[in-house]
Amino acid sequence: MAKITKFQSVSGMHDILPEDQGYYKRIYEVVSGMAEFYGFQKIDTPILEDTDLFSKSIGETSDVVSKEMYTLKTKGGDSLSLRPEWTAPIVRSYIEHGMHVLPQPLKLWYFGPCYRYERSQADRYRQFWQFGFEIFGESNPVIDAQIIQIQYNILKELKLKNISVEVNSIGDSNCRPYYKKLLGNYLKSRESSLCADCKKRFKENVLRVLDCKDEKCQPIKTEAPQILDHLCDECHSHFKEVLEFLDEIEVPYVLNPYLVRGLDYYTKTVFEIFQESEDGSKKALAGGGRYDKLVKLLGGRDTFACGAATGVERIISLMKAQGIEVSKEKETQVFLAQLGSLAKRKSLKLLEEFRKSKIRVSESFGRDSLKVQLNRANKLGAKYTLIIGQKEALEDVAIVRNMKNGKQDIIKMDKVVADLKKKL
Ligand code: HAM
Repeated sequence: MAKITKFQSVSGMHDILPEDQGYYKRIYEVVSGMAEFYGFQKIDTPILEDTDLFSKSIGETSDVVSKEMYTLKTKGGDSLSLRPEWTAPIVRSYIEHGMHVLPQPLKLWYFGPCYRYERSQADRYRQFWQFGFEIFGESNPVIDAQIIQIQYNILKELKLKNISVEVNSIGDSNCRPYYKKLLGNYLKSRESSLCADCKKRFKENVLRVLDCKDEKCQPIKTEAPQILDHLCDECHSHFKEVLEFLDEIEVPYVLNPYLVRGLDYYTKTVFEIFQESEDGSKKALAGGGRYDKLVKLLGGRDTFACGAATGVERIISLMKAQGIEVSKEKETQVFLAQLGSLAKRKSLKLLEEFRKSKIRVSESFGRDSLKVQLNRANKLGAKYTLIIGQKEALEDVAIVRNMKNGKQDIIKMDKVVADLKKKL
């Protein structure tokens, strides 16, 4: 006999069970409410895109592209990848649909799964959900501040505690090459003391050394020249204004000169939002920044852009840890108990009337006994149970039982819904 395989969900990917749906729903409600208020329009893109779209935008040497993409060859020979993030697909869509002709700034938002082949560990998944906001066609630093404010406000509205915003500027093509050279020269003399990963980063993208968490590299980082001291005038004044706007809207932040982000497309402002635990450990909840060169890089016109994304599972895990509850599914108001096939038939019709009257009804159309059905009605917290047995079905009536005091009335079938509507 063939062996029966016990299937499990793929490592790093999980089912969203009914008991967790309330968290996704709550987060969706807060995010969509925020999006509507600030004038964002929703966009969805396919989960598969040309692999080149990601390597060109996020960068060949980034961890996301070099190690973490789920890439497949189609029967036609194309190389496609599951989206590891949403920004590149949205830029692709912006260009493909000529969205530059729409009134700018164009504001888009999204909510859906992403895929990264990362080492599975707590809060690091291979399928995870992101929501995010992208604004196209506006260079003013007020946009950068607003993007940060929206992500921050969402976390606040979800009642998360110990949230901190870290910001930095990584300059642009005017000043960053010079800074990279400066940093490279500084690191060259210390290369032998760098961790193994940083020796590689040093060659591939020297900025990423600043992002290293390895103990070995910390003293080297502290002494390194800082990009904020080497921004060109334009990047400097842009960043100064972003910080002034953040002060104005009272979003607390700290400057982190080592924040460089792991995706290549950023220019000027970058930021991350963390949750800090009592033991001092930090969890990244959101990240983003400005990416003024990406639309052109992917074949569009020169277009200013700025955006950010937040990880949904990380928020849920924090909501659970901080004891933040979400409202459960709405309670059953009426339970429909029936016995026999005629009663079942009449109940089915009644159920439709309840639906139209927006009364929340539960039933169990199986072969359960009346006792089992009444128990179920109790468990569901129904206020009333309708009992329709063979006799009631023949007489075209129903017994309406008040579940609190056990009082029962006999009501004509065609008056039942109206009667309950009054009682509830
Ligand atoms: P990111 O920093 O790579 O940025 O991801 C944003 C957020 O997604 C992270 O802060 C984290 O909460 C969540 N996240 C990332 N990887 C995982 C994972 N393996 N498991 C669980 N959660 C994860 C971006 O993706 C950019 N596209 C953000 C952006 C939008 N920049 C401009 N516009």
